[in-house]
This record gives sequence, C-alpha cells and structure tokens, in this order.
Amino acid sequence: MHFNGLMDEITIHLTDREGELHDIEIPLDIDLNLMEVCKASDLDVDGTCGGMALCASCHMYVESDHELPEPSEDEEIMLDQVLFVEDNSRLGCQIKVTEDIHGLKVRLAHLGSE
Ligand code: FES
Repeated sequence: MHFNGLMDEITIHLTDREGELHDIEIPLDIDLNLMEVCKASDLDVDGTCGGMALCASCHMYVESDHELPEPSEDEEIMLDQVLFVEDNSRLGCQIKVTEDIHGLKVRLAHLGSE
C-alpha cells in the first residue's frame, strides 16, 4: 500500500506475548523502527543491542501480507540462532516505519528464556 506521502502517521496492529492486541499509531516524521515503537509503547521488548540485529529481543512474526524489504544478511544470521523461528519471523529493529507498513499485523515472538 502506498499513499504518496500524504500520511503523517500510520497504525500497526501488534499482538503481545499475552495475546493482547494493541493498535499503535506511529508518527512518520521521526525515523523509527518497530523495536523502538514497542519500547515507546511500553511493550515487553528490551532492544538490548540497540537495533544492531544482534540480540533478537525484538523477534516478531509478520502476520499480514505487506511486502517488506528483504532481511539483511545480519538479520538472517541472527534469526538462524533464535528459538521459535518461523517463516514469517523478522527482527523488529530491522523494520523501518514507513507508509508502506500502514496496517501491518505483527505478533511478538516468545523469547528463548520463557
Ligand atoms: Fe537487538 Fe533487534 S533490538 S536484534
């Protein structure tokens, strides 16, 4: 979906680890990624590595059919090491907030220690 720069915020639909759904409005005028959005929304995402694709605390599943940029090699290497990985696994810190993800549905993955 693309709106030719007319939007100033988008909404995503995020299911947390307790199964609770959050509709989160995100302004587009700040450069954010989905790990940062989770932290700003007080969700249980540590973002331990600061968004370097090195900790997987932002592991989430993309449940809508939005076309996202392919994962980088670093992201793929990290995802290879996490538990509960699925075909739709991504690292939230590697998903940038743009108009293209308006309406995105994501679910936080369980972490290996749980
Ligand atoms: Fe560490 Fe995303 S915040 S991998």
